[in-house]
Amino acid sequence: MKAKIISIASQKGGVGKTTTVVSIGGILVQMGYRVLLVDVDPNASMTSYFRLTPERSSRCSYALFQDKAFSPSKLILQTEVNKLDLIPACSALAMLERDLGLKQGMGTVLQKNMEKFVYQYDFILIDSPPTLGLIMINVIYSGDVLVVPVQTEYLALQGLAKMDSTIEMIKKTKPEVNWHVLPTMYDRRTNASRRSLRDIKERYGDYLHGDVISVDTKLRNASMLSLPVSHLDGYSRSHEQYHHYITNNLVS
Ligand SMILES: Nc1ncnc2c1ncn2[C@@H]1O[C@H](COP(=O)(O)OP(=O)(O)O)[C@@H](O)[C@H]1O
Ligand SMILES: [Mg+2]
Repeated sequence: MKAKIISIASQKGGVGKTTTVVSIGGILVQMGYRVLLVDVDPNASMTSYFRLTPERSSRCSYALFQDKAFSPSKLILQTEVNKLDLIPACSALAMLERDLGLKQGMGTVLQKNMEKFVYQYDFILIDSPPTLGLIMINVIYSGDVLVVPVQTEYLALQGLAKMDSTIEMIKKTKPEVNWHVLPTMYDRRTNASRRSLRDIKERYGDYLHGDVISVDTKLRNASMLSLPVSHLDGYSRSHEQYHHYITNNLVS
């Protein structure tokens, strides 16, 4: 069986992309799946989340964007969580656009290189930077599913509209883009949050599947411990919500 590739992207920063990747990864591992996390954000937030650094600067996800041979196992680091592996990001990624330029076909190089990992894992989760560019286009191309987290706040729809037009552009060469909107940091006590969720439902209802992730301070605790929220003791609302989202949408 080939791994299912799940891409997480949004043109806005701070909406919960990295948190979503780590949380989904932790839950899938608890369900018994082998999971590879791939950090392609030049800021390396997910790599820092697990307090990992590439063994050598050349052994990072930058290699996944190059049209030359590499040794897949050398890129993989192990997190503290059994069966949860990571390909780290590194600062070289910031130079990627300049290094690769806009050579023909460079939008699908990541997808081709991910083929080298699909038989070792059940799920591969890719965390994207918040800027529209070669990296994000590659991330969207690679995914069997694209998850777009949206923070339920004032002007949430603006960010979502940008992402929508990016997806439309990509559909010219990849007609089937299966994408979900995942509202995050929902706080039903605030008007802004409730109103934003209502707007998202109205405009993007087709891409919503009833799942919403609440504001949850346990997620911050999890990041301080470098663990997915699923691996913390005690009940967590967001854990339950991510779990619900996974069983309904990602695991078939
Ligand atoms: N559901 C949530 N409830 C509370 N805090 C959250 C939630 N999701 C994310 N956060 C926090 O918001 C901040 C930004 O999240 P992050 O996942 O890094 O966003 P992105 O990757 O989109 O930039 C982090 O400090 C994270 O811990
Ligand atoms: Mg991030």
